[in-house]
Amino acid sequence: MTEAKVNNAPMVEFIVDGKKCSAPRESSLLDFLLANGYDIPYLCHNPAVKPYGACRLCLVEVKNGRKTKLTTSCNYPILEGIEVFTNTEKVRRNRKMVMELLLARAPESKELRQMAKDRFGIDADKLPFEKNNGNKCILCGLCVRVCRELVGIEALSFAGRGEHKEAISPFHDVASTCIGCGACAVACPTNCIGLDQVITKRSLARWNRELPMKTCKRCGYAYAPMFQLEHFQNISSVPADFFDLCPDCRK
Ligand code: SF4
Ligand code: SF4
Ligand code: FES
Repeated sequence: MTEAKVNNAPMVEFIVDGKKCSAPRESSLLDFLLANGYDIPYLCHNPAVKPYGACRLCLVEVKNGRKTKLTTSCNYPILEGIEVFTNTEKVRRNRKMVMELLLARAPESKELRQMAKDRFGIDADKLPFEKNNGNKCILCGLCVRVCRELVGIEALSFAGRGEHKEAISPFHDVASTCIGCGACAVACPTNCIGLDQVITKRSLARWNRELPMKTCKRCGYAYAPMFQLEHFQNISSVPADFFDLCPDCRK
C-alpha cells in the first residue's frame, strides 16, 4: 500500500496488521488507516483541523523498537519501522470502554447512543459508569478548532477543568463574534449545538447567538447570515452590492 507524498516529507515503510505499507514520515496514522480501508472508530478527528486526541476512540497498538503501547492514532505520527495492530483483543476491549465512558459523559446524544449500539453493542441504559444526565457534549473540541482554524473567528473556547470542562461561548454569554456560518454545528459529532433557522433568523442555541439573515433583493429568499456576508466582504475584495442577490439570482 502506498500514499501520495504529502508536503514533500520522505516516505517511510512500516507495517499494519502484518502488511507492508508506506506513507510520508510523520503523517497522521489515522488518516492513513482510514484512507486504506481500515475500520477505525473516531469522533474528535477531522483532517481539516489539527489533531487533538480528545475522544480516545481511535486507539491502536503500536510497536516502536521493543516497546508496544496502546495509543490514539489520530495524533500518532507515522515513523519508519513501526508496527501497527488495529484489531487486537486489547484494542477492542479498550475502545469499548472508551465508548462507554463517552456515552456516560453525554448520554443524551442520539448520535452517540446509535454509534455505541451499532459498533460496540453497548446499551446506553446499562452503562458501568455513572451518567452525566442531560449532557450531549463529549468535549471533542471540534467546534472550537473548526471555528478557530477553518473559519478564523475564535468565537468559542474551553473553560473549566476535569469533569467541569466545557466548550462554551466566552463566559457563557452570547458568542458575540460568531458569524453564524454553522461550521461548528456541521462538525459536532453529537449534534449538540442546536443550529436552527426560522425564515429570517438563524440561531445557535449552545452559543446563545441569534443572527438576522440577508434577504435576496430579487427573489426574497433569506440565504445567509448578515454577519457571515460582512465577514466575507471584509476578507475579500468583492463589491459591497455583491451580496444583494442570492447565489441563484447571481447566475
Ligand atoms: S457558527 Fe459561529 S461559533 Fe460556529 S464556527 Fe461559525 S463563527 Fe464559529
Ligand atoms: S459541542 Fe460538539 S463539537 Fe463542541 S466539544 Fe462538544 S461535542 Fe465536540
Ligand atoms: S479521533 Fe483520535 S482521539 Fe479522537
